[in-house]
Amino acid sequence: MSGIPDIATDPAGVYHCDMRSRPPARSTSRKPPLRVQVTTLWDYPSQDYGPTHQGLPGYPGATPSYIIWNLLQRYTRPNDLVVDCFCGSGTTLDVARDLKRRALGYDIHPTRQDIFRVDARKLPPELTNKVDLVFIDPPYSTHLDYGPDPRDIGKLSARDGTYYEAMEQVIHEVHRILKPGKVFSLYVSDSYEHGRGFYPLGIELFNRAVRIGFTPVDIISVVRHNKTLQMGNYRKAAEEQNFFLRGFNYLFIFRKS
Ligand SMILES: C[S@@+](CC[C@H](N)C(=O)[O-])C[C@H]1O[C@@H](n2cnc3c(N)ncnc32)[C@H](O)[C@@H]1O
Repeated sequence: MSGIPDIATDPAGVYHCDMRSRPPARSTSRKPPLRVQVTTLWDYPSQDYGPTHQGLPGYPGATPSYIIWNLLQRYTRPNDLVVDCFCGSGTTLDVARDLKRRALGYDIHPTRQDIFRVDARKLPPELTNKVDLVFIDPPYSTHLDYGPDPRDIGKLSARDGTYYEAMEQVIHEVHRILKPGKVFSLYVSDSYEHGRGFYPLGIELFNRAVRIGFTPVDIISVVRHNKTLQMGNYRKAAEEQNFFLRGFNYLFIFRKS
């Protein structure tokens, strides 16, 4: 099972219902044309664009690359500096290179040589006011196991508030490193733990970002195409036990005031 939680086998009996809880389909056929999205509902039924992969195929928490492509097209220019401090399989680095932007990737569990092992709560001091765009797709509380490092924010719970405290520190750091007026984008899903509760991570993190000094630019709803959720035990459990599976992620766009 490659360490990925499954709705039927999670030993804690918790239905995490994370859209990313299985490796995404990496189809190379019939990808739609890649265009700048013009509404606040984004729907691109493929993990990657073009004939190549962005990020590492099969990485369980990968961000769909068209999301990052859209942000960089709209809010950056060639040679601008982009930072992703939850870089995972490196999707942001690959998209930035495709678009001739400079990019720095950090992660507590680096998967490639071009990602530096750095805690997102303590970014390099020399980056203050140097960055043109920050994109992050952080852990959604405890949905996925990314590795053994105890500094992994994916080990912290929204239930006891430790997840929010950690993410607040991250958002402060993002604010410090951005140039004034530049864009911070946060991709996140809410969290539902069956029998325990619903945790509105999106609203909680949005409010914290505004308090820290970011001005909202827009809120995008991103539809995910994970066929697993329409099948078998996921669907059955949601119907019989009267809860909802996650059908969208938030993409928040802010500017540093
Ligand atoms: C959703 S994944 C990122 C996916 C990535 N955008 C991609 O496309 O592959 C979240 C990442 O956050 C990392 N992470 C967790 N806690 C962290 C921390 N304190 N500092 C930096 N990275 C952290 C995990 O190791 C994981 O790789």
